[in-house]
Formats: sequence, structure tokens, C-alpha cells
Amino acid sequence: MATIWVFHGPNLNLLGVREPQHYGSRTLAEINQEMLEIAKSAGLNAECRQTNHEGDLIDWIQALTPADFLILNPGAWTHTSYAIRDAISAVKVPVVEVHLSNIHAREAFRSSSLIAPVCLGQISGLGADGYALAMRYAIDYQIRREKE
Ligand code: DQA
Repeated sequence: MATIWVFHGPNLNLLGVREPQHYGSRTLAEINQEMLEIAKSAGLNAECRQTNHEGDLIDWIQALTPADFLILNPGAWTHTSYAIRDAISAVKVPVVEVHLSNIHAREAFRSSSLIAPVCLGQISGLGADGYALAMRYAIDYQIRREKE
């Protein structure tokens, strides 16, 4: 069954207590719960995962099937990981990159994403709402694909 995956990268397990001025006060569990509810109300299957280990994320991306969709917050790997970028290119699955904070309005190193060029698009700076918007886009995308 096609799945809308939500993968969160390093340190995002700390949401709620980590630098709330940048990342807000909602926990990862709360964000994931909302994602699952939005997908369920549209009759679609979604799953959420978080890892602090780059190889795990690469393995998960490689295991995606072409009918899947990925909502990805790569955390700091956004700015460093050619390996995650290559994994996304290799699987040709539609990906939306999400950041809670506005990566273009912070330290200079955060404003460049190695991942964005291999994604459909990027949502940055809208807090947890960015995930919900990405999920709504993913649902529309999957429904369109089912009709084709
Ligand atoms: C982040 C932005 C990254 O620069 C940072 O390393 C993170 C979180 C965000 O969601 O705003 O870990 O991806």
C-alpha cells in the first residue's frame, strides 16, 4: 500500500524542549499525531519516523517504493549530506523538504540546502504548520496520481 512517510532527522526528537524560539513548543509526538490524523481523514496511509543516525535515514529512503511520498525534515543534514541527496535522487520518490524554522533567516550555513534541488519543493519557517501543509500537499499529490 502506498504510504506517505514523514522522516525527521537528528535532534528533532528533542522538539518541545530544544530551542523553542526556533522550533516552537510542540513535541515530535504531537506533530506526528497530527500528521497521521490528517492522512487518515483523507483515507491514506502515513507513517512517521525519527533518527539521529544518517545511515538509518539512507536505508529508509532506499526502501521507499515509487508509489510512496516523503515529507522530510533532514535537520542539520540538510546542510551537510551529499549521501542523503544521492539517496533521494536514486529512488525518484516525490519529496517535500520541511523546516520548522526559516533556514534563510538564520546563520549563513543554514541558508543552503543540499537536499532542496532533489525535492519537489521546500517549506521553511512556518513552524509545525509546515508539516501539516506538506501533508495536505502530499495527499493531493497521491490522489492525483491514483487517478492517472
Ligand atoms: C531544522 C533547521 C536546521 O538548520 C537545523 O539543523 C535543525 C532543524 C528546522 O526544522 O528548522 O535541526 O531542520
